[in-house]
Order: sequence, then C-alpha cells, then structure tokens
Amino acid sequence: MAAATAPPVPFTWTRHHVIDSASLSRYEIEEILKTARTFSEILARPVKKVPTLRGKVVVNMFYENSTRTRTSFELAGKYLSADTLNFGVSTSSVKKGESLQDTMETLLAMGTDAVVIRHGSSGICQQLAHLLGNRVCILNAGDGYHDHPSQGLLDLYTMLQHMPGETGVAGKKIAIVGDIAHSRVARSNIHVLSTMGADVHVVGPATLLPAGVEQLPCTVHYRLEDALRDADLVMCLRIQLERQKTGLMPSMDEYIRFFQVNRERLNAWCRPEVHIMHPGPMNRNIELSSDLADDPQRSLIVQQVANGVAIRMALLYLVLGAQANDSSDPLFQEVKGERPHAHSA
Ligand code: CP
Repeated sequence: MAAATAPPVPFTWTRHHVIDSASLSRYEIEEILKTARTFSEILARPVKKVPTLRGKVVVNMFYENSTRTRTSFELAGKYLSADTLNFGVSTSSVKKGESLQDTMETLLAMGTDAVVIRHGSSGICQQLAHLLGNRVCILNAGDGYHDHPSQGLLDLYTMLQHMPGETGVAGKKIAIVGDIAHSRVARSNIHVLSTMGADVHVVGPATLLPAGVEQLPCTVHYRLEDALRDADLVMCLRIQLERQKTGLMPSMDEYIRFFQVNRERLNAWCRPEVHIMHPGPMNRNIELSSDLADDPQRSLIVQQVANGVAIRMALLYLVLGAQANDSSDPLFQEVKGERPHAHSA
C-alpha cells in the first residue's frame, strides 16, 4: 500500500503519459476519479459534447483487437471535441514493415497530440515514451501481459459507486479469480486497488499464476474458497485462450469444476452484499456462470463498460493539459453551475 503522505496543495496534474498503474499515486488516482465524476455528470445530459479538447488530435493505434477500450477512447475523444482518428494497423504501412517508431514519427509530423496504444509487447509504451519524450501524450490501452491502466481505474471507479463513504475500497476484500498470468487487467487492478488500501486476493490454477506473483501487493491462493471467503467483491478474468501455450490447463471442464464463479459458490462463501465484475470479453459459463453475469443485483459488468467512457475522458483531459483544479476552466464552471450550459440541449 502506498504511504499516505500529504498531497502538494493545491494538487496539480503533471503527468504527460499514463503508462503503468504501479506508479500512479493515491493523489493522481483521486484526481482521475474526481475528474471522471464531472464527466459522468456531462454524459448524463441529453447532449454529451463539451468543447474542452477542441483542436487536439487523438490517434487510436490498436495492434490487438478490442471492442470496449477502443470504442470508449474514441467516444471519449469525440465527447471532448478532439479530432479522433482510428489508425488502421492492418491497412497501414506497418504491413510493409514500417517500424512502430517510424509510424509514430509519421503521425507526430501530422500534428498528433495524444496516442492511445494497444500492443502485444509488454513495455512498448514505456519504450515509446523514452524515444519520443513529451512530444506526444501516450496512453496505454493494454500492452502484452503488463498493464491496462484505464481498465484498473474504471474498475476502481465502478467499485466506489457501490462502496460509498470515506473509506471506499480501503480494507475491503477484493478477490481476483482466474488467469492471472496472462492478465494485464489483474496487474492493473492489483496496483490501483492496493494503492487505495484494498485487501487484494488472487486465485487461479497454479499454472495460471505468474512467476513472482508473491512480490505483487496481494495475497495468493490456490483454492477458490480461500479467496472468496468473506469477499466484498469478486472479479472474474477471461481465460485468454489466444495467449495460452498448450498444457497450462488440463481441460476447460476441470477449470470450471474448481474455479468457475457461480451463484452457489458466491452464496456459500462471500459477504451477502457481494458484487461481481468482469473486464470483458467474457467466455460465458466458463469463468463466470451466465445467470450471474446477467443478474442486475450482483453484476456490475454493464456499469464497468459505461464508466470506461468517463474515465477515458478524464485521462485525455488531464494529460492534454487542462487543469482540473483551475477554477477558471470553463468546463468546471459549467459543471458547477457558474456558467450557462452552452452545450446542453
Ligand atoms: N476489457 C477490455 O480491454 O476489453 P476490450 O479488449 O474489448 O477492449
């Protein structure tokens, strides 16, 4: 857990890139959440668009498939009035062998201000930030097994909507179940949640727990019951069939038998008010029973997706230079009612 030292007063956002979850401080996370709450209010209006990032260019570069992250970053940019562009990797000169660095330099030459990147190589965003410095803002939308910061943040944001009060997730038992080894979502959640004081537990087949898992800020289990016992929230992870080498699991039936999260297990072991989450996409009836995934009393999966837009708006807003604490910022005057809602219907 991060030390609770006092924030600089007033807190000013200085980060140019959002690349990894472990380095986000409690105060940076709180600033992102506060900014996202403002954007959630705007997203509840009939007209969701604000002029805040007018003139900024945001490019989505997805070298791996995505539905939620790519779409919500694109919508976030559009709602902030940025010019957003989806770079089509499969139809680009990447297919002629152009390097990522040369591709980035090409996009920068055309005036790109921020790049949202998903890539199969762990650490690629850090490498790009080192090469390009502060000439462009880099937002990690998932790099290999390493990290997916916006997912960890939207998951925290969703949890806090169901754990109101001063303490939030602090001291709450959060169980993360499944393929921890291949999951950048697990790593992001472990870091973000532990920074905010949550009691994070992970469980999965021993073959799907990464080497060095004991060095992460979480408790490791090998039996589902031990992780779920008295849990306040259970997060199921997708079994990433596309990343698995053969032989990591004896069979899918065996996984279901020992690790599937279902209603019977939830009722038997967890706290009565427990909620379930899943970052998506889901393998229905494998890591999570379908009836539980669709149960509005228990499942926060749809809310996770919805919150992704507000969190990604907050990240774009913060890295592209707007200052959330600046009372002269027209967006925040508008939200606080000190300025007419120029863009409301
Ligand atoms: N959770 C997540 O990253 O989903 P997508 O792969 O659909 O973006």
